[in-house]
Amino acid sequence: MKTYIVGNWKLNFTVGESSIYLHKLMKALPNYRDIEMVVAPSFLALQPLSLQIDRHKMKLASQNGFYRDYGAFTGEVSFSQLRGIVDYAIIGHSERRHILGEDDKMIAKKIAAAVRNRIRPILCVGETESERAFGETADVIRDQLLGGLSEIGDDDLDKVLIAYEPVWAISSTKAAKLASPEEISEVVKLIRETIHEVYGKKIAEEMPVLFGGSVKPSNAGSYLITEGVDGLLVGGASLILSEFVDIINTAKRVKA
Ligand code: 13P
Repeated sequence: MKTYIVGNWKLNFTVGESSIYLHKLMKALPNYRDIEMVVAPSFLALQPLSLQIDRHKMKLASQNGFYRDYGAFTGEVSFSQLRGIVDYAIIGHSERRHILGEDDKMIAKKIAAAVRNRIRPILCVGETESERAFGETADVIRDQLLGGLSEIGDDDLDKVLIAYEPVWAISSTKAAKLASPEEISEVVKLIRETIHEVYGKKIAEEMPVLFGGSVKPSNAGSYLITEGVDGLLVGGASLILSEFVDIINTAKRVKA
């Protein structure tokens, strides 16, 4: 299986800055055939960057998308508009769940809309600090996972990627708030068991599961060798050229 390294730029970089950064990033990296390198800029930058990017080397993802293809939905961007521009879409990110109020029902419709438009969804799941403290992690992950996948048919499951992003480990500056490889492997195991139970062994084994939450060059290697982890979803460190390049080169080294 390929290793996926996805840079989520969140609400950062102007269109110009995005273009310059992408140029430098592509120059700094060789063509790694076994590493799927993906960046997720703002909606505004996607179209110009799609003309600039070398798709043999790197792919684009959107950070979101709307579940209807067209109509009276002021301010939204549909997956039918993103079709042909991006190969992937991050869906159900915790910042959208918790700041923008997205629920599993809406996320399920977005996953279906992405698939319908030939865009591979990266479904994000993850528990908050208090959910973990109350012992609710397994329930939360199962609900988000099965809820998110509820609107697509079995034939489309092979297009989906899962990203486990514990909310408490995102943008963390404290060592105590970093997810340990043991904590990650436990939840990744639960994700695969849940998929196995509901959709069968093959799809459970083959569905890529990424980890995200304060991934840095210093911890990327240990996360990538964690059992069941097929890649990383990187926020802050993906905005720093040397760090993102370092993480990708680490993936190449570790997964070789
Ligand atoms: P950080 O790497 O900045 O913690 O962000 C993780 C994340 O939310 C990626 O989607």
